[in-house]
Amino acid sequence: MADKKYYITTPIYYPSDKLHIGHSYTTVAADTMARYKRLRGYDVMFLTGTDEHGLKIQRKAEEKGLTPKQYVDEIVAGIKELWKLMKITNDKFIRTTDKQHEETVQKIFKKLYDQGDIYKSEYEGWYCTPCESFWTKTQLVDGKCPDCGREVELTKEESYFFRLSKYQDRLIKLLEENPDFIQPASRRNEMLNNFLRPGLEDLCVSRTTFNWGIPVTFDPGHVVYVWIDALSNYISALGYMTDNDADFKKFWPADAHLVGKEIVRFHTIIWPAMLMALGEPLPKQVYGHGWLLLEGGKMSKSKGNVVDPVVLVGKYGLDAIRYFLLREVPFGSDGIFNNEALINRINSDLANDLGNLVSRTVAMIDRYFDGTIPSFREPGVFDEDLINVVMKTPVEVERLMDELQFNLALSEIWKAISRTNKYIDETQPWVLSKDESKKGRLAQVLYNLAESIRIISVLIQPFMPETPEKIWEQLGINDKKLVEWDTVKTWGKFPESAKVNKGPALFPRIDLDKELDELGKIIGQRSNGQAAAEKKEAEVKTEEKEEKQAGMEKETLKENKEEVKEEKQEDYITIDEFAKIDLRVAKVLEAEKIEGADKLLKLKLELGDEVRQVVSGIAKYYKPEELVNKYVILVANLKPVKLRGVESQGMILAASTNKELVLVTVEKVIKSGTKIS
Ligand code: MSP
Repeated sequence: MADKKYYITTPIYYPSDKLHIGHSYTTVAADTMARYKRLRGYDVMFLTGTDEHGLKIQRKAEEKGLTPKQYVDEIVAGIKELWKLMKITNDKFIRTTDKQHEETVQKIFKKLYDQGDIYKSEYEGWYCTPCESFWTKTQLVDGKCPDCGREVELTKEESYFFRLSKYQDRLIKLLEENPDFIQPASRRNEMLNNFLRPGLEDLCVSRTTFNWGIPVTFDPGHVVYVWIDALSNYISALGYMTDNDADFKKFWPADAHLVGKEIVRFHTIIWPAMLMALGEPLPKQVYGHGWLLLEGGKMSKSKGNVVDPVVLVGKYGLDAIRYFLLREVPFGSDGIFNNEALINRINSDLANDLGNLVSRTVAMIDRYFDGTIPSFREPGVFDEDLINVVMKTPVEVERLMDELQFNLALSEIWKAISRTNKYIDETQPWVLSKDESKKGRLAQVLYNLAESIRIISVLIQPFMPETPEKIWEQLGINDKKLVEWDTVKTWGKFPESAKVNKGPALFPRIDLDKELDELGKIIGQRSNGQAAAEKKEAEVKTEEKEEKQAGMEKETLKENKEEVKEEKQEDYITIDEFAKIDLRVAKVLEAEKIEGADKLLKLKLELGDEVRQVVSGIAKYYKPEELVNKYVILVANLKPVKLRGVESQGMILAASTNKELVLVTVEKVIKSGTKIS
């Protein structure tokens, strides 16, 4: 296992406020990755934590009449609670106020100073006395402090500087030679073109204007600049420069630092330069993800319940929130967070696609076989395609997860879910159940469904900490060895003896109207007209979607109640009506183009002793020579017609989408003319 180790980090969060759902985004993504790697047998180190120093925190604490430490302690406790609620499986939680971290930062600072990478000089800037802040000329607003709008003065302050400029060429080389170091690629270009190539200046890395920071040991009036302090967490947490550095030796360099796009700069310029100066290896990848935005713009805690992860998880459930965060937005892009999209995802992807698949399957195994699928089985048509689609899924999921493409990995899993739902429609177990001679086929169909769900339940584990267990409970899988990651690579592990247990719906449907009403109240802060219009628009969209879903759900419900017979009578034909269609197996003897008609081919078909001529609109999809000797299905009693002057004595069957057309054929060679019933 030595080489199968994986170190992933989130940024460490400012405890200046409670966290909103946007903050949870990075942590949920990192947790999903950590879970995934553990499932694949990696020894994982997953680190998160809090970034607790700086003037902002000092001020907030003063406002509340607390010491900075008292102030952060309370907020950090809340953050830890939140991660517990979201089932975040971090292996360590670092606080920059931890003694070990502070000492490591001091050692790093001293080492860099001793070797000449940090030097003392003067920092010149525009100083706002009431705010105790330095600003550069470009940061000023109308020549005044951008924070409080008061006068500023040009001031000089003694400071320590890090020789960032010295590392410029090596950093450019790093980015040019390692295209994967920064992901997505657009952020790499931004770093190169906007920061590195124009030239780097040395970085001011100490402050004397406030004291809530880590003191510079050899010059105690100075505290270490928060970013030097914060970035060091990734190695101080592993025991770097301590006697207890086994984790550092084992896990460094990090495999992935996940960070929001606005802090990519610190992680891909300052951090590698610090590591170069320290002579340590560089992280393998910095992934700069996008922001989750509200429709009105940036997310902030002041937006209230809408963005409060505790409220959202309480209301919609943890797995639904985690699913939404990773499914809705491609990792790397910005995305909009809104209740309507969230509820639609829950109702359609979770309640309808996954939830119904599980409940229908469990209900059918329970009803038709008293809970256990018999071992007498009969394979049949549709099985192969189902198995092919489901077995391809893990390969794709693994590839996409290694690229941190969470939304695409989920979309692959949902393709398998859709294929499995379609298999129910194709095989119609409720019809098979009516015929004693089809029991073997019914058993096979239900086994295939259960097996497909087993594979899906394993694949969703990294994303959803709660649902897989619930599925195993309902399917009657007790042996955890049958749901280990590698079991998805073999079809047929669903245990013979499993007895299913009907359980509650995995994802109860949410009443969208009610939720939108509540949302209406929240967005009521804006003009009533605007809120009402948005609500109306949302309702119309939702109605359309719900109509589709209702169609699907109605079917499930009725089927569960064994009301198949009454189901939408008007859509059915009777067996007698079907018997009126004379379907025959036919062998293609000849095929040729019809002059002046791009789409048509003229076919000569053998139908037992008879030969028929049929015109078919398949010229764009099949070459005439490909068709000869193929066995096709002919509607033999269709009234003859003339197409482009050529008589067609029947029609051959094909499956078509708007992109392709595929001829229907027989599974094995059978005498032409054979009737299909
Ligand atoms: N303390 C620094 C990080 C230091 S890492 C050595 C910091 N903290 S933060 O609390 O402001 O942000 C932490 C992370 O949350 C950042 O990666 C940031 O991009 C992310 N997010 C904050 N709001 C977000 C959204 N609305 N959407 C997605 N991510 C968001 O920066």
